[in-house]
Amino acid sequence: MLKRLFLTTIASVAIGMVASSISTAQDANSKADISHGRDLARANCATCHAVTIDGASPLHQAVPFWRMTIHRDVTTIERDLLNHALPQNNVMPVFNLTAKQARDIAAWIAWVQPRAHGKRILEANCAKCHAISAQGDSPHPDAPLFRELMQFYPVDAIEEAFSQGIETTHPDMPIFKMTELQVADVIVYLQSIQSEK
Ligand code: HEC
Ligand code: HEC
Repeated sequence: MLKRLFLTTIASVAIGMVASSISTAQDANSKADISHGRDLARANCATCHAVTIDGASPLHQAVPFWRMTIHRDVTTIERDLLNHALPQNNVMPVFNLTAKQARDIAAWIAWVQPRAHGKRILEANCAKCHAISAQGDSPHPDAPLFRELMQFYPVDAIEEAFSQGIETTHPDMPIFKMTELQVADVIVYLQSIQSEK
């Protein structure tokens, strides 16, 4: 009981922070603001949830944000946040969010998903030569389409190449080395775009 009371107190302090940090932009139709969602998550959710692209939650029952879409899509999460339809238990506090706050937090949750993170890495580093989506040609004529990569290489070969540094014989292909997290998230993205053999 004491624990519950304690957590409720934290939660109401946190909600107070939301209320004071939000003054403008309550337009229900405005576009989601990802960095606003991140700020809300840091201020209100990070005591329990891991709220970035990686890491374990401080409270182990609280699903890390980066895993939250495994069972439910972001739209459902947004709706549930707004309607207080999240799993009810004695730990997760009820947040009275505006539509915009719920949308911005949901947009942040979408942003930290492994697939989205993997896609951003490829967009930033590879897209100027490789086709990185399910359609389209590679801007560089010799660069393989990423959606066909797994027809030629098994996942563990790609994992190894990305983490140890991909080197090709082609003079235009730069050498890249990725962290373990980057490799894992790029693989999640690549798997999602592979075309049928
Ligand atoms: C005091 C701790 C605590 C805080 C603060 C907290 N949560 Fe949670 N949250 C939990 C716990 C514990 C669960 C798991 C509940 C369960 O599965 O029954 C949970 C579950 C959830 C779920 C459902 C996940 C799923 O897959 O079912 C969502 C979404 C969620 N929280 C979002 C948030 C957001 C957004 C915030 C900040 C605005 C937040 N939580 C703040 C403890 C917290
Ligand atoms: C400046 C252009 C350029 C950029 C940027 C680039 N590539 Fe490439 N990449 C190429 C070319 C050209 C080839 C074809 C190499 C060959 O045929 O030997 C290639 C080949 C590859 C191959 C196949 C290697 C093989 O041996 O068949 C992989 C995997 C690959 N690139 C991954 C990436 C990744 C991941 C990134 C971003 C982190 C990236 N490339 C960025 C030009 C590029």
